[in-house]
Amino acid sequence: MSSEDTPTTDKTAPTAGFGIDIGGSGIKGAPVDLTGGKFAAERLRIPTPSPSTPGAVADVVAEIVTSFGEASGTGPIGVTFPAVIQHGVARTAANVDQAWIDTDVDTLFSARLGRSVHVVNDADAAGVAEARFGAAKDTKGLVIVLTLGTGIGSAVLLDGQLMPNTELGHLEIDGHDAEHRAADSAREREDLTWEKWAHRLQTYFSTVEKLFWPDLFVVGGGVSKKSSKFLPLLDLRTPIVPAELLNDAGIIGAAILAAESPDTPTPPAV
Ligand code: BGC
Repeated sequence: MSSEDTPTTDKTAPTAGFGIDIGGSGIKGAPVDLTGGKFAAERLRIPTPSPSTPGAVADVVAEIVTSFGEASGTGPIGVTFPAVIQHGVARTAANVDQAWIDTDVDTLFSARLGRSVHVVNDADAAGVAEARFGAAKDTKGLVIVLTLGTGIGSAVLLDGQLMPNTELGHLEIDGHDAEHRAADSAREREDLTWEKWAHRLQTYFSTVEKLFWPDLFVVGGGVSKKSSKFLPLLDLRTPIVPAELLNDAGIIGAAILAAESPDTPTPPAV
């Protein structure tokens, strides 16, 4: 083997990161082992403040990072948020306080913490984690990860590369915002049987596959733990599997994206 053929590893790639997942009921964070795709210490969860305004949420994010002390590392912190995040700025607020719209979340959190913070859409983070370490590991081609929770989040990945902020939960189907009919919150709100909900999922997933022709669907969100109740009821041409990293995917994906993003801002000097 000539030296040109010798496989090289990127010795500068960080091996440790920190991720935080901001959800409607809880804000969770943990140091992340970036090479193994798992938590490096037990995660901490603090209930989401009410009202969940930017300042109140920034305080909780800071409390979580600080509580880990040195274990939080020195690199950028990755944070998920359930909205479109364009270059650190929240652009939508479907299921969160409207005060977030147009908030520069990267700058707000970086200033509060005195260290670099990179904020990303929650489903994008989960999708990256599943593609790297979970249900879509080593899958070539087009993977669509759909998270079924309060809303429907989407991550679209081509050969493992994320196309951010796809928002497929808001496809309009039969005159309705898709997530309003097919999210897990619709199943709970309307007390739907698994069969009735699966019928709505059938309509939703068929529409997505007709438009995108993916090679694989991954279903995430808390309800993916109960996938045996509804995935066998679906009839799709695309293979469909439950997420593997479940609740950990957001934290792990956020840490990966922060470590790899050229966008991560340097915090202002304090
Ligand atoms: C939001 C998305 C988010 C998804 C899951 C949707 O209502 O528009 O940005 O990813 O919910 O939280």
